[in-house]
Amino acid sequence: MELAIETSALVKVFGTTRAVDGIDLAVPAGTVYGVLGPNGAGKTTAVRMLATLTRPDGGEARVFGHDVVHEADAVRGRVSLTGQFASVDEDLTGTENLVLLGRLLGHRKPAARERAAQLLEAFGLTDAAGRQVKNYSGGMRRRIDIAASIIRTPDMLFLDEPTTGLDPRSRNQVWEIVRIIVAQGTTVLLTTQYLDEADHLAARIAVIDHGKVIAEGTPGELKSSVGAGAVHLRLRDAGQREEAERVLARTLGAVVQSGADPLAVTARISGESSDLAAAEQASRALAELAHAGVTVDDFSLGQPSLDEVFLALTEHSTAKEVPA
Ligand SMILES: Nc1ncnc2c1ncn2[C@@H]1O[C@H](COP(=O)(O)OP(=O)(O)OP(=O)(O)O)[C@@H](O)[C@H]1O
Ligand SMILES: [Mg+2]
Repeated sequence: MELAIETSALVKVFGTTRAVDGIDLAVPAGTVYGVLGPNGAGKTTAVRMLATLTRPDGGEARVFGHDVVHEADAVRGRVSLTGQFASVDEDLTGTENLVLLGRLLGHRKPAARERAAQLLEAFGLTDAAGRQVKNYSGGMRRRIDIAASIIRTPDMLFLDEPTTGLDPRSRNQVWEIVRIIVAQGTTVLLTTQYLDEADHLAARIAVIDHGKVIAEGTPGELKSSVGAGAVHLRLRDAGQREEAERVLARTLGAVVQSGADPLAVTARISGESSDLAAAEQASRALAELAHAGVTVDDFSLGQPSLDEVFLALTEHSTAKEVPA
């Protein structure tokens, strides 16, 4: 298996902040690799080191076998970065931006024009091609940023939070673009704050927090490490909450998380269960709640949220074990 990225004990320090604090990564070539973490986890800092924009303070990183410090030029020749904060020129139109970047990459004008038109078409921006980028919506903006980073098809593309703040439709468009890019042979390292995004796109995920990898694996492995699913319910009457928690703990054998909302109750279904078993357990819990006379206004079964994954992984959970 060829590795697109290999890091060992990678460190970046800003003053007293260890932004990246000893990260080991192995990213297989030809896949989407997700780096998942909350604000300030160190995602952008890690990506910037891999893209040779910042020098590591410790450890090593190789991109397609090239050291990011000693062979930075070789790395730069093979990577492209779409930053969290956009890099295209606001005052230029979509076409002008892409043509300009194509020219900077050494394309002759006709070739640069052709590539620009092709990308605008592929990203659904043909109608907006002649408008200044400052008048684009957030979703259009994100798409033009990605287009700008693949004018020359890179072997490795870093996408730093490509969908943060986008509506569901725009997110889907970006996901489709990522799938197309990977199908063409590019390795993608994608940072995100959303578990579902990593789940949809990534073959493997590293979860980082406070500059450290706290979990790594396939999406399925990560989810099953924290539970097969989570049952969320909304009570009619806050007075029935204790009873609801007791029933859930008994039927699901799960941790019941009680948040600030007095009407909301969440329970995790234990890790070994298959999805089917999770659904069965959830419907049994619902029946038991009805039997106990607890009125439930809303009930859903879903995968654990990123919050729940983090809480479980970092054990800062506010969950309490409710005696059965
Ligand atoms: N240039 C810098 N100077 C000082 N501190 C920095 C700098 N860049 C990042 N940091 C700090 O390093 C830590 C990691 O930041 P980083 O931007 O890598 O996080 P992130 O995971 O990308 O977060 P977000 O999801 O908010 O984009 C934070 O505590 C941040 O304040
Ligand atoms: Mg960031």
